[in-house]
Amino acid sequence: MCGIVGYKGKRKACNILLECIKTLEYRGYDSVGIATLANDQFQIKKDIGKIDEVHNKLNFLTLQGNLGVAHTRWSTHGGVTQINAHPHLSQDKKVAVVHNGIVENYQELKHELEKHGIKFISQTDTEIFPQYISYSMKQGKSFKDAVHETLLRVEGSYAIVAVNVSGEMIVARNGSPLVLGIGKDEIFAASDVPAFLEHTNKVVYLDDEEYAVLDLGNVVDSSKNYEVYNVKTNKKIKKEIKTITWTLEQAKKGNYPHFMLKEITEQKETIKKAIEQDHELIAKVTDAIKNAHGVFFVGCGTSYHACVSASYIFAHVAKRHVNVVLASEFRNHENFLKKETLVVAVSQSGETADLLDAVKTAKAHGCKTIAIVNVMGSTLTRLCDTSVMMNSGPEICVLSTKSYTSQLALLLLFAYSSAGRLEDGKKIINSACKHVDKVIDVGLEKLKPLAEKLHKQHDFFLIGRDLAYPSALEGALKIKEVSYIHAEGFAGAELKHGTIALIEKGVPCIALITKSTRKLILSNAMEVKARNGYIIGVSDENNEVFDYFIQVPAAGDADPILMIIPLQILAYYLALAKGLDVDKPRNLAKSVVVR
Ligand code: G6P
Repeated sequence: MCGIVGYKGKRKACNILLECIKTLEYRGYDSVGIATLANDQFQIKKDIGKIDEVHNKLNFLTLQGNLGVAHTRWSTHGGVTQINAHPHLSQDKKVAVVHNGIVENYQELKHELEKHGIKFISQTDTEIFPQYISYSMKQGKSFKDAVHETLLRVEGSYAIVAVNVSGEMIVARNGSPLVLGIGKDEIFAASDVPAFLEHTNKVVYLDDEEYAVLDLGNVVDSSKNYEVYNVKTNKKIKKEIKTITWTLEQAKKGNYPHFMLKEITEQKETIKKAIEQDHELIAKVTDAIKNAHGVFFVGCGTSYHACVSASYIFAHVAKRHVNVVLASEFRNHENFLKKETLVVAVSQSGETADLLDAVKTAKAHGCKTIAIVNVMGSTLTRLCDTSVMMNSGPEICVLSTKSYTSQLALLLLFAYSSAGRLEDGKKIINSACKHVDKVIDVGLEKLKPLAEKLHKQHDFFLIGRDLAYPSALEGALKIKEVSYIHAEGFAGAELKHGTIALIEKGVPCIALITKSTRKLILSNAMEVKARNGYIIGVSDENNEVFDYFIQVPAAGDADPILMIIPLQILAYYLALAKGLDVDKPRNLAKSVVVR
């Protein structure tokens, strides 16, 4: 994972780099580092810890110069140590690199360089880049040619920013995101747009196997500030400058204490926005679904849960079977893929490596592909034949909240449109939207005391049937991700097939109840209650079996949209009650760009 930034301009680089890298902290936060160039030498500060902790210790703002790179790390190769933190330097200290991705053949390249007397000081795969570039320059190559040669030798995934002591900056991508920000007299490179959105909304998306030579800003013609090349052919490529419509306010926390709370609250608007789609696009997606011989919905984590939820609606409403597959397991279904197969890839970031791999597999078999995605310009949007944007605005908290309900809304819409009932689908979502404010407000009021009571519990069990089953899975994921409390979601009847053995006095069990599943799921809740479990009912009406009741209005097929909100809020408050870092839970990263 990791977040990377490069800056070249006329302003003091350290201030800008620090601000930019903070915006990318959601991508990983076990170590951080910044290197700037001043008086033909790199000044470098890096250490383990979150950005603010390291900044308090080292003070990045004393770094001089108008050019530099920054990195926030989620470790893959090499432990979390100061030495392994980026940026990494070449042995002669003339090249500095930040990297996001994995160099698969790093051992081979390392041994090759070691034979030439180059000593590696870190345990990272990344160190290959500065060492190889510098070695290649020593063989007489220009910086550009040396970077190019290195890219040809490296196997695996990378987004890199490489700089040398002469102030040349080159960036490259293959399998990890990288976007250029084109300012007036400055240029940025970053893993994600919000990093530099404060400074420019003009961007150039790099594609896989591309590298770009960045120059100082040309006020007259900003397209002259960079040159993009294909790694394989080394030919220059013309790239379009795109204008980003997301605003800076959307990417900032504002008055909210945490992005998670801000993003939960934003669902008051985002669900409605998700279904404001162009009619031609809806028709195109609907036709693709109807004409497909075999439909696969694929996703990871929360996005996968949205796919599971959609499979119920497609079965009930569109009377269509859709296959739901975890993106990481998709290859196992290769034998069933053909030209007429449709693969719908669902993702907030559009950068999840497992998902991109699944889409590449689908494309290799000639399948049609549709993305349901939030981040414009993401790799997924460029891989798929058609993209439907979720329009949720930037989601910064590592946990997916608003993007989940947008995914649910869109998938529900497509189930209805596939049944020839688009307007009914819209009505159902719009009436659910009328209750979102209330559900959030009630949740914020009632779930704080509940979380304070339950935050020392070791386990939570969530049960739901039919449409509420995927909500149980997603609710459990929310609780685990942010509060580190073990939580498991079950189809109501399944708990008794083994896991009920874990129920003892006071163990919380959240029962998610829809109108059509009420009787059966209440029986399951009774079974837990009989073993002295603590029942939290999430339902449109109270019941004597509940020890605690959270009211969520019935919304028919849109039940999952409303039902997940209290679970998001409960997870948030559980984490707060435990004093945890809500926006940056341990071990996680928002976009997982490794397989
Ligand atoms: C990571 C995040 C999860 C997210 C999953 C899929 O694992 O920690 O919260 O659900 O990736 O992300 P995507 O961007 O593809 O929806």
